[in-house]
Amino acid sequence: MGFLPIRRIITLVFCSASLLPSCASDSRLLPNKPLTVGSTLISDDGTFALGFFSPSSSGGNHYYVGIWYNSIPKDNVVWVANRATPVTDPSSATLALTDRSNLVLSSTDGQLLWMANVSAPGNLASSENVTGEATLDNTGNFVLRTSEGAVLWQSFDHPTDTLLPGMNLRVTHNRHELQWLVSWKGPQDPSPGSFSYGADPYQFLQRFALNGSRPYWRSPVWGNYLMVGSYMESIKSTIFMTVRRIEDEIYMSFGMPGGSSTVKIKMDYSGKIKILVWNSNMLEWDVLQAEPDPECNAYGYCGAFGFCDNTEPVPTCKCLDGFEPISKEDGSNGRFPKGCRRKETLRCGRENRFLTLTAMKIPDKFVYVRNRSFEECSAECTSSCSCTAYAYANMNTSAINGDDTRCLIWMEI
Ligand SMILES: *[C@@H]1O[C@H](CO)[C@@H](O)[C@H](O)[C@H]1NC(C)=O
Ligand SMILES: *[C@@H]1O[C@H](CO)[C@@H](O)[C@H](O)[C@H]1NC(C)=O
Ligand SMILES: *[C@@H]1O[C@H](CO)[C@@H](O)[C@H](O)[C@H]1NC(C)=O
Ligand SMILES: *[C@@H]1O[C@H](CO)[C@@H](O)[C@H](O)[C@H]1NC(C)=O
Ligand SMILES: *[C@@H]1O[C@H](CO)[C@@H](O)[C@H](O)[C@H]1NC(C)=O
Repeated sequence: MGFLPIRRIITLVFCSASLLPSCASDSRLLPNKPLTVGSTLISDDGTFALGFFSPSSSGGNHYYVGIWYNSIPKDNVVWVANRATPVTDPSSATLALTDRSNLVLSSTDGQLLWMANVSAPGNLASSENVTGEATLDNTGNFVLRTSEGAVLWQSFDHPTDTLLPGMNLRVTHNRHELQWLVSWKGPQDPSPGSFSYGADPYQFLQRFALNGSRPYWRSPVWGNYLMVGSYMESIKSTIFMTVRRIEDEIYMSFGMPGGSSTVKIKMDYSGKIKILVWNSNMLEWDVLQAEPDPECNAYGYCGAFGFCDNTEPVPTCKCLDGFEPISKEDGSNGRFPKGCRRKETLRCGRENRFLTLTAMKIPDKFVYVRNRSFEECSAECTSSCSCTAYAYANMNTSAINGDDTRCLIWMEI
């Protein structure tokens, strides 16, 4: 047996002996022990830390309360409390659990910079007698519980730009608002940027990355798959996207069951929605996926009736069969922002037939007609002269929204 350096032994004595209160309370924020700049909470297994941090670009002038991977040296922040209200004088700013069981961030001169709104409607009644504590869990979730263990507030319910395994992103809205990941403004600026990622607010069939209010990327339309796995060759592991109903809302989450890698989904300040995995050999985040990819897959890039052909060595925009670019100058750089138009106008009736297109991502702006067989869906479109296309799928799964068919139709406007 080898010798451990003295320091290591001392550390072991102090930090593995969980009976010592100084160690045992490391992951917990207690009502009488506010957190100040320089002190951190560490999750029990050491993966995550919570405390004040100052991005290098702010020159140490702006401090934020955040959660980060404790042993990952870069791009490690996964959650920020006071994104829009940084601490400018850190000398005696505090994050405290007040006796009314709220999490409160106060500036040095005593101003309220951020609070967790624990008593907001929808949470347990604020009158409930709580002498709880807030704990940084091993999943990276900062949780405020009642003394009985009920969750009063958790950081996982208030995502910033990062989705961690185990987090649920709400993609429907009944009693609660939709949840979005909102990018940082820059690589070193946690204030809210212009890109966001979440579900189509009108129906939960697709996800969007928005630039301000404009779509920048759109996911393929979801089936009713409760779980979709994508095998990632580079890490020899499968990442699962899960959609499930919790009470009256539908949530998406992701994970890598059995995988020991550190993985996250991030709405990047550049506008890309990325799946990243920590490469502990290279000490870098490997990008497993970054949408839009290729570039012509960006929303509306190829215009109406155009599509991004990513089977070409250099992916380019093309017009659908029977269509041509609207503008003659278009197409020189593989892009038709004005889109394509029909070479011949449609004559409603028997002269026109539908053409089946395979292996296409289906377009946006569809009308979702519920609960149709294939024949009914086809009839829905052929019976109307303003219907120009339809798409059909029968998911044959236990339907998450009570309908396992997808009859989508496109109407001329
Ligand atoms: C808490 O609620 C107030 C009032 O509804 C709101 O202005 C504030 O932004 C909320 N704070 C957070 C952190 O959600
Ligand atoms: C709330 O806490 C106080 C002080 O510990 C105690 O006297 C009181 O009975 C508690 N109330 C409830 C409803 O548990
Ligand atoms: C996002 O929108 C801004 C303002 O309209 C624009 O300048 C910028 O190029 C857009 N970014 C991307 C990645 O499309
Ligand atoms: C779907 O249509 C079938 C047959 O028309 C009907 O029996 C069933 O109740 C419908 N289901 C829903 C969820 O609307
Ligand atoms: C689903 O598909 C399987 C295999 O094709 C079939 O045996 C089963 O009856 C289908 N279930 C429903 C509900 O259509």
